[in-house]
Amino acid sequence: SEHMGDDLAKVLLTEEQIQARLSELAEQIWHDYEGKDLLLVGVLKGAVVVMADLMRALPGTAPMDWMAVSSYGSGTKSSGVVRILKDLDADITGKDVLIVEDIIDSGLTLSWIRANLESRKPASVEICTLLRKPDVVKVDIPVKYVGFDIPNEFVVGYGLDYAERYRNLRCVGTLAPHVYA
Ligand code: PRP
Ligand code: MN
Ligand code: MG
Repeated sequence: SEHMGDDLAKVLLTEEQIQARLSELAEQIWHDYEGKDLLLVGVLKGAVVVMADLMRALPGTAPMDWMAVSSYGSGTKSSGVVRILKDLDADITGKDVLIVEDIIDSGLTLSWIRANLESRKPASVEICTLLRKPDVVKVDIPVKYVGFDIPNEFVVGYGLDYAERYRNLRCVGTLAPHVYA
């Protein structure tokens, strides 16, 4: 459709709900990392939007770095294959790494990234995700900061894509059936 909003079946989280929750998380993160060497590590591309808003909600400044991996490709289901497309720019030895993600679905991507980063001898590795789906209980991945627990539906917006589109939606929602047709 001409307007992205016409492609949504329903809105799960509004822009206001997302921003309010990110402010809370940013305050909590800043408090928890006082006196530590915080490094924000974003996972391209989905985490671009949450990183931009979360880092600006922090009361102070912190550096960021990026990794690109892929587990979904262009479909809606996880393939189970994690590939590094772009590694971090810098060494993370001794850093307090906070991985920033848009969503944890199966947990496959993050359990792999966490193990990979832990092998590089950082001081700590924690995870912050805007969204978490119920299936992740299967892999038992400890997530310190969660924005919202959501139902097991395919969602787009706020960084999340369907075939690389809809990342620029300000809300999170489900797509109307005609989009998949
Ligand atoms: C999506 C999402 C997470 C991951 C979650 O990324 O952004 O990174 O899948 O799925 P999982 O918990 O089942 O592993 P995707 O691979 O689609 O790449 P993208 O961020 O570039 O959209
Ligand atoms: Mn992603
Ligand atoms: Mg994707």
